[in-house]
Amino acid sequence: MEHILLRHRDIPDFNKLNVYKKNGGFAAFKKAVTKMEPTEVTAEVTKSGLRGRGGAGFPTGMKWSFIDKTNWPHYVVANADESEPGTFKDREIMESNPFQFLEGLAIASYAVGANVAYIYLRGEFWQVAAFLDEKIAEMEEAGILGDSIFGTDYSLKIYTHLGAGAYICGEETALLESLEGKRGQPRVRPPFPPSYGLYGKPTIINNVETFTNVPPILSNGADWYKSIGTADSAGVKIFSLSGRVRKPGNYELPFGTTFRQLIYEHGMGVQDGRSVKAIMPAGASSSLIVVDDKVLDTPMDYSSVRTVGSDLGSASVIVLDDTVDIDWVINKTIHFFKHESCGKCTPCREGNYWMRNLTDRIHEGKGSGDDVKLLLNVAKQMQGKCLCALGEFSTMAVVTGIERFPQDFKKKTKA
Ligand SMILES: Cc1cc2nc3c(=O)[nH]c(=O)nc-3n(C[C@H](O)[C@H](O)[C@H](O)COP(=O)(O)O)c2cc1C
Ligand code: SF4
Repeated sequence: MEHILLRHRDIPDFNKLNVYKKNGGFAAFKKAVTKMEPTEVTAEVTKSGLRGRGGAGFPTGMKWSFIDKTNWPHYVVANADESEPGTFKDREIMESNPFQFLEGLAIASYAVGANVAYIYLRGEFWQVAAFLDEKIAEMEEAGILGDSIFGTDYSLKIYTHLGAGAYICGEETALLESLEGKRGQPRVRPPFPPSYGLYGKPTIINNVETFTNVPPILSNGADWYKSIGTADSAGVKIFSLSGRVRKPGNYELPFGTTFRQLIYEHGMGVQDGRSVKAIMPAGASSSLIVVDDKVLDTPMDYSSVRTVGSDLGSASVIVLDDTVDIDWVINKTIHFFKHESCGKCTPCREGNYWMRNLTDRIHEGKGSGDDVKLLLNVAKQMQGKCLCALGEFSTMAVVTGIERFPQDFKKKTKA
């Protein structure tokens, strides 16, 4: 099957404007601006079943329809923070298929009546930002961005903005704070960005991969898109596969592809012929899945992954084999979350500090069974009490690790 998102893998030089145009590029944006009302664009995206690819899987068209039409101006923001450990798909899109992403961002801006859009990139992506600036300039030169686009009265400017490299700035309201030049900490919600976003104005925020799906949806129609994937999760997804597999990488596959197909057919199986012990389907934020044949044959879509006790999230599938101890996994994830907790709310700030201390002790072989119980207790006490999802994410591997892999902790602790 030809790629829908990673088209640069099929067409050489796809990141060059003339090549992109020759292969149907910008036809969808032109169609939208010259032939469709903004509400029709949103309706088509809603009908396609497209869900956000940043982790939560929220229906994209529905989000666009929530934009407050009584308050102007409107903004659109592309979330290019890509900080979840194990996720590396947005970078490939931006570096190798930039125009399809920018076209999707432009279509979304037209659909919600925004004349200014921002791309918020993590600080480490400074080369990607410079590259996108060049591509934006080329589009302006060609009359695809700027004033009077395609001879209409629609105008759009796109700007890149670099964060300072904080995981929390991927959370949409912390991202907005950071974009406004403030400290990147989440806002209390509601109100949500479609009514109160950038500079207090209605704002739509979507992930890079989400936008990249939009041009093919408009070109080929919502029904075509819906015919791919599953009833619950339409279309294709880029799975970032990593861990103990023989061929890690990004794989664009229809939703509904099983873990077994991803790991064994695309990832060429586990290193040294070992067996899969656990899967983290959503990067460091995942609930750990104990792997058996039923799990391997589970289709990867939003609802099916829930049936095996986890979430698909941004589909950063980390494979752990039987050489990996789960107390080590937890130690690694908690060090990450302790470092990235923004400190705004007490349960996450203090909870991650204590979880870090406990997991260090356990991992070093100095902990007791009571320390494991205390660690589980701290994690459970945090759940449902944090201001944003980071606090919640930090507890996932701890709770599921201890509850689903007790033998790994028994092995490590004193009586
Ligand atoms: C701690 C945290 C980090 C996040 N990091 C990202 C990120 O790097 N990229 C992203 O697109 N979404 C990230 N999200 C999700 C965003 O808040 C938001 O849901 C998403 O950008 C919406 O776009 P979508 O509807 O297209 O998925 C993060 C959420 C949290 C709580
Ligand atoms: S949960 Fe953590 S990251 Fe989120 S606001 Fe509270 S302290 Fe900050």
